[in-house]
Amino acid sequence: MSVSGNRRFTIQPGGALSGTLRVPGDKSISHRAVMLGAIADGVTEVSGFLEGDDALATLAAMRQLGVRIEGPVDGFLRIWGLGLGGLQAPAAPLDLGNSGTSMRLFAGLLAGQAFSSELHGDASLMRRPMRRVTDPLRAMGAEIQTTGDGTAPLHISPVGGLAGIEYVMPVASAQVKSALLLAGLYATGTTRIFEPAVTRDHTERMLTALGCPVENNNGWVEISGPATLKAAALKIPADISSAAFFLVGASIASGSELVLKDVGLNPSRIGVIEILQRMGADIQIEPNPMSDGEPTGQLTVRSAPLRGIEIPLELVPLAIDEFPAIFIAAACAQGETVLRGAEELRVKESDRIAVMADGLSALGIDVEPHPDGIRITGGAFSGGQVNAQGDHRIAMSFAMAGLVASGPIYIDGCSEVHTSFPGFVELARAAGLRITDNDAFPIVTIDGPGGAGKGTVAKALAAALGWHFLDSGAIYRLLAHRVQTTGVTLDQTEVLVELATQMDIEFPTQGQFAGCAFLAGEDVTDAIRHESCGQLASELAAQPAVRAALLKRQQDFARPPGLVADGRDMGTVVFVDATVKFFLTASVEERARRRHKQLMQKGISANLADLLEEMKLRDARDRERTVAPLVPAENAITVDSTDLSVDAVIAKVLDMVRSRV
Ligand code: S3P
Repeated sequence: MSVSGNRRFTIQPGGALSGTLRVPGDKSISHRAVMLGAIADGVTEVSGFLEGDDALATLAAMRQLGVRIEGPVDGFLRIWGLGLGGLQAPAAPLDLGNSGTSMRLFAGLLAGQAFSSELHGDASLMRRPMRRVTDPLRAMGAEIQTTGDGTAPLHISPVGGLAGIEYVMPVASAQVKSALLLAGLYATGTTRIFEPAVTRDHTERMLTALGCPVENNNGWVEISGPATLKAAALKIPADISSAAFFLVGASIASGSELVLKDVGLNPSRIGVIEILQRMGADIQIEPNPMSDGEPTGQLTVRSAPLRGIEIPLELVPLAIDEFPAIFIAAACAQGETVLRGAEELRVKESDRIAVMADGLSALGIDVEPHPDGIRITGGAFSGGQVNAQGDHRIAMSFAMAGLVASGPIYIDGCSEVHTSFPGFVELARAAGLRITDNDAFPIVTIDGPGGAGKGTVAKALAAALGWHFLDSGAIYRLLAHRVQTTGVTLDQTEVLVELATQMDIEFPTQGQFAGCAFLAGEDVTDAIRHESCGQLASELAAQPAVRAALLKRQQDFARPPGLVADGRDMGTVVFVDATVKFFLTASVEERARRRHKQLMQKGISANLADLLEEMKLRDARDRERTVAPLVPAENAITVDSTDLSVDAVIAKVLDMVRSRV
């Protein structure tokens, strides 16, 4: 919804993670449940399915292949399996979005079909290497075309049949292994695949659960085709890859204690736990009774001091998806963490070594990227801006860094988070991360000098759009009112901060009190307009500690469906990542004239020349103050209202907002 279509996370620094939560279902297992359920005999019922874009891409593709699937509803699916030979030719190319697993596994599954198919994906997927599956599939007899670079689109043509092969995988890849096992189901003879290091074995476990046992003898994984599968109920555990962000977040943020329920603890996936434990993390594991061939358990993680380690090579494939999160832990550890043998990270959803290295450096961490890994020296995160480059795991990893950063972290390129973790922002927020997702609802800021018409325009805009409204100036006035009624003096900074943090404020936008200001349930709309209150408000606003305390109160106004905020530093400080920012101004003479007219209408006599002088002085004070000076935000649209009527300004601003959200 934002101007660029970019989704940005904003993380305010600090906080700790606590509570009990269940992250969504395992992505790898969700893909396999749909694929194997579709070619089994009978109806497969799946619970705990991940309703993220990647797994949904597999599901949509299966429907295109003629499979009837009911759901997902709350993670529940019912799949009417067509048996090994029942898939039908798709009417159009299959679009697998961002999902490498879908494309590689489908390549194996479709290689032995009696129809042609074409596999596409988004820009990231179309860049990822596919020869690792197309080469061995061709050796089995498949006919698959790629681009000259060995990337998608993949064109798969029917062949007379596939034959089992013996294949030593050059890269330890569960996707390649699974693609060959799926092709092996359709092949004559035995398909034997050697994995140079242990990789996730969900395909083997699920095939076994569906009646087609798969053996692993000293790294040789074997399947004999043609084989048939029998439908069964499949329960998908919570995804350890999604749990990993929370394991890291709770480890680094002191005072954290978090329980993660029902997490998949397949030994081929728990490298992240082992690595974090070696770094000193406090993670307790309570296994659940085994079900459906996949071990699960409850993890309890408490914050602990971390130290840098050399990551053992054999753990690399067992934590392959969790390195972005592990890098965040490494950045918070004492000493150096060294990762080698992980060149695979360069061909994931992004080049995870480069993108993480850039982001870590931008946040003040000392890193040295290598072709196959990285060296990270533990330090302290500053605030700053990073770009996740559309890589879901990088976005969520940097979000956790916010817990220990010294300033806000802005993460651009977060649009793909729903591929693996729908609901991440809400779950993380409930656990204690101070995260806002600026794609979820738009924020419009209107800053400018006094008398430019900000308040009137902002209120009209909020009313026209049906959004929330923040009159940030009124918040200072409310605090001033509170100070006046409690008798606190301006040098009692701590008490002022406490009042600012705790005062109970409300600005109704609907009904008879719309536009009013309430303090602890009392209508103080008129009281806060007194000159004495305004004067005190401006003195309070000059205190950095007070501004900092009110910052959070102001940011809390950002709520769906949208917010219009007016003030002096809305676009530059409070909502730096606002969707549209305006700087509303008018000549000082015109503003003095408007103020004069306003006062006359209220029956208050005033001298225009005096007002003009006062206004000039105030402008200078606002512009030159050190804390949040009044300047247009870098990307603000300046609207000069000197020669425009209020209605004309409202119409113009409304038009610009509508064309941008
Ligand atoms: C996956 C295997 C891994 C992993 C990917 C999912 C799978 O890839 O990174 O996110 O479901 O089989 P490789 O097997 O290519 O390492």
